[in-house]
Amino acid sequence: MDFNQPVSRLINKRYSCRTYQDLLIQASDLASLEDFAASCQIGPLGNQPRFKVIAAKEGDSASLKGLGTYGFIKNPTGFIIGASEDKLGALEDFGYLMETILLRATDLGLGSCWLGGTFTKSRFSRQLSLLDGEIIPAVAAIGYPADQSTWQDKTIRAGARAHRRLPWENIFFTNKFGKPLNPGDAGKYHQPLDLVRIAPSASNKQPWRIVKEGRNWHFFLQRTAKYPPPVFDFILNLADLQRVDIGIAMAHFELSARENGLKGKWITQPPDIPLPDQLTEYSTTWQEDEG
Ligand SMILES: Cc1cc2nc3c(=O)[nH]c(=O)nc-3n(C[C@H](O)[C@H](O)[C@H](O)COP(=O)(O)O)c2cc1C
Repeated sequence: MDFNQPVSRLINKRYSCRTYQDLLIQASDLASLEDFAASCQIGPLGNQPRFKVIAAKEGDSASLKGLGTYGFIKNPTGFIIGASEDKLGALEDFGYLMETILLRATDLGLGSCWLGGTFTKSRFSRQLSLLDGEIIPAVAAIGYPADQSTWQDKTIRAGARAHRRLPWENIFFTNKFGKPLNPGDAGKYHQPLDLVRIAPSASNKQPWRIVKEGRNWHFFLQRTAKYPPPVFDFILNLADLQRVDIGIAMAHFELSARENGLKGKWITQPPDIPLPDQLTEYSTTWQEDEG
């Protein structure tokens, strides 16, 4: 999983782009993205989602219009579609790999936007020939961003995004919930945590919580009460998008940790840490290598 630019820069640069230039994705960019997506085969929890990049071609730019994004996205010139099983850890792996592919898209100068609710499932399913037991939890629109000036100015973007995120003390803890992790005590993991904080999430709910315990970084999912609203869920038949959000957070954390030379592995071993409420569940743990 190689990027041309530092992954920390790509994470800062990515944002949900909802208006694209009416410009086809260049063949070389498309080929690079397809190669990258093909290399993203297995997630950190061992599941194997499938991804397909589709792009409008010369003379048929109308072809993607039929895919339907309920008008929320203007001029998408491509999509990344992914299929996943709906078993333990699979949606997290889907989120992890899809976000990694979107960071490569950012690397290639492409804007993107995750779509978990606002797309017509049946039309996208036809593009991927779903196997038994597979679902399409989300897709992503891609294309060259229309607002080139904002796109260039990644510093302003990252700053604006940080203001739309929960503060550190609400999401990162030490040893137990309710005991915030002081940023000064995060050591080399300061940047990985900062980059988890600005990760995208469905409806910007940011359901990730991390508790540091020795060399273990335990990831928890704190579900948002009454989310999605039941009526919305019924109409759109949504996947469990907050588990996808956890996978996205895992990707930001691990890619940034590795960029900083930090080594470790994912293990799933629930710690003996009291949960703060019934909405919170354990997901997985990043265990730093010893020494
Ligand atoms: C799993 C997932 C599903 C999402 N679904 C949608 C969607 O259906 N429509 C949309 O406009 N944005 C969607 N988003 C984008 C979020 O609203 C966005 O990431 C969040 O508001 C933070 O903004 P940012 O991505 O610009 O940092 C989704 C994001 C994620 C991670």
